[in-house]
Amino acid sequence: MSYLAEYQRSMNDPEGFWREKAQDLEWFSFPQQILTYDADGLGHWFADGEMNTAYMALDHHVKAGRGDKLALIFDSPVTGTKKTFTYSQLTNEVALTAGMLAGLGVTKGDRVIIYMPMIPEAVIAMLAVARLGAIHSVVFGGFAPPELALRIDDATPKVILTASCGIEVKRVIEYKPLIDRAFELSKHKPQSCVIYQRPQSVAGLVPGRDHDWAELLAKAKPAGCTPVKGSDPLYILYTSGTTGKPKGVVRENGGHAVALKYSMNAIYNVAAGDVFWASSDVGWVVGHSYIVYAPLLQGCTTVVFEGKPVMTPDAGALWRVCAEYGVKALFTAPTAFRAVKKEDPQALFMKQYDLSKLTTIFSAGERLDAPTEAWLTDHSGKPVVDHWWQTETGWAITANPRGIEPMPIKPGSSTVPTPGFNVQILDENGQPVARGKQGYIALKLPLPPACLNQIWGDANKFRDSYLTYFPGYYVSGDGGYIDEDGYVFVMGRVDDVINVAGHRLSTGEIEETIATHPAVAECAVIARDDDLKGQVPIGLVVLKSGATISEEELQQQLIKYVRETIGAITCYKETVILARLPKTRSGKTLRNTLRKIVNGQQYIVPSTIDDVGVIQEIIDVLRSKNMVA
Ligand code: COA
Ligand code: AMP
Repeated sequence: MSYLAEYQRSMNDPEGFWREKAQDLEWFSFPQQILTYDADGLGHWFADGEMNTAYMALDHHVKAGRGDKLALIFDSPVTGTKKTFTYSQLTNEVALTAGMLAGLGVTKGDRVIIYMPMIPEAVIAMLAVARLGAIHSVVFGGFAPPELALRIDDATPKVILTASCGIEVKRVIEYKPLIDRAFELSKHKPQSCVIYQRPQSVAGLVPGRDHDWAELLAKAKPAGCTPVKGSDPLYILYTSGTTGKPKGVVRENGGHAVALKYSMNAIYNVAAGDVFWASSDVGWVVGHSYIVYAPLLQGCTTVVFEGKPVMTPDAGALWRVCAEYGVKALFTAPTAFRAVKKEDPQALFMKQYDLSKLTTIFSAGERLDAPTEAWLTDHSGKPVVDHWWQTETGWAITANPRGIEPMPIKPGSSTVPTPGFNVQILDENGQPVARGKQGYIALKLPLPPACLNQIWGDANKFRDSYLTYFPGYYVSGDGGYIDEDGYVFVMGRVDDVINVAGHRLSTGEIEETIATHPAVAECAVIARDDDLKGQVPIGLVVLKSGATISEEELQQQLIKYVRETIGAITCYKETVILARLPKTRSGKTLRNTLRKIVNGQQYIVPSTIDDVGVIQEIIDVLRSKNMVA
């Protein structure tokens, strides 16, 4: 079938299209309702279907006689550990872990927070929660205690699952003090905390609250799969918005399973038995969808990698893993490829390995820049596919549909809309613009399966944040254009969300942290382009009158503030003290103008500015530091 025919069918008859795709999964009771709308007018896919996502991802394969096939490979260069799980073994581990959670009182609809490093137990924990029909919320291990506490208060979990430590190259990060601090900071106190003890650092347990994972597991009885409705939530994943508070994206079971299974055929072109590796972290949406759920729903072998593309031990890590396990499709972020390219510009490591089984390299998280794409393509000889997606959608909005009809690759484009996504470019007034013209990228409703339809704990937030800007559309927050061939070019965020080494962060949240410093009167955090990480935040700070702190001293203190409040992944390193910030006459900081100035781009001074002299003042300061030409 051609891409165009498949895409048109998904547009002309969405319910028929997705009903057919849903038949690829083993439901307890097949949905009669395909797309329905609730009292608030929000769409739900497969609302009355009965299912269990963990069953579809594990038990189903065992029942089908594939129990001895490899489900998961764990490869940890930082600990020198390798381990494998067949589908039967993984199913048994998940059933037992679900039994452990049931023993702690976890039942359908309860929330469980998972704060873990990249070890198989993190994947097992997610599937165990899903098995009970409970709702997991994985918090990336790089987030600091206040971020964890925010999520604890919002999700109000019954249980937290964690490990004694994570390992960052050669640095052991003890999780227990972070957990204890988060418990102190949060208003909601989870009943139990289960700690997977790792030999690199064994944690002390708080009596009555903390449990040793292995001890509890030894006493647990395997639990069966609890049936849930297609519209019941599978997980909450928090992501950065434009405000200080992260948004809890809710993913429903039915649409998620159907869309992810479809994507493995349509986009990634992998089948049961193939090895699929998303080199990300289970704390991000890519990890949820493509380390855990999609590969297992498809019966593939997934790789859980505890390491980095460089330094563990060298810039050959990606290629070593691909060769060693016969990876068919590799998926990672441009920043990882840039890190490899920087260390190994001639791709000498790549040439040491047999990559004959690797058919396609996928990239997402930020736009794949043309030089990196060219370097990868030239050296690997493989198609390099950029695809665009968001935590909110859970899977790619635009991609090269390799499993339907491979499309010619255009550098800088994430190719064409995935079947199900009606991608439009709109102007300020919500009117579609001509081909080739830039505008806001919006998705015409209804959104396809897997996309969010609520923000946890806030009935109006989804509508307010995404649906009111352009009625009838979901606004993506990204800007870009569609060319005359229908290829989509995503040019970057049009809001205050930034992307640092493939990690999505809110400048508003960093600003809130900086503003708590006693010497700071106000600040603007701006994304500066960075050769390795894509973007890094820089703080432009105005001091309170009478404050005498030096710029160097302030910078050191703010680095510490941001690391301890949000996390080291923020990569906040630069602070510039300014006499004042540019404002409109109504008092709004001109962030867009600042962004252009710090990145040395052409800018137009807005007519709404209250004092045009401030711009030259700022340029003079930045020039004196050699930050702009
Ligand atoms: N727990 C604790 N700290 C973490 C962490 C974790 N899970 N992940 C990262 N950090 C820390 C790092 O140790 C580093 O700390 P430092 O400032 O003390 O050195 C800091 O956060 C910044 O991390 P990062 O930006 O990742 O830089 P890095 O130098 O460690 O690694 C790359 C650079 C490019 C190799 C790495 O960013 C990478 O592999 N990125 C891919 C991202 C990705 O997969 N994104 C998912 C979307 S597809
Ligand atoms: P996240 O929710 O963390 O997946 O981040 C989503 C955001 O990352 C998007 O809104 C984009 O700004 C950016 N992004 C992800 N993938 C791409 C891509 N392939 N091209 C351009 N931007 C991307």
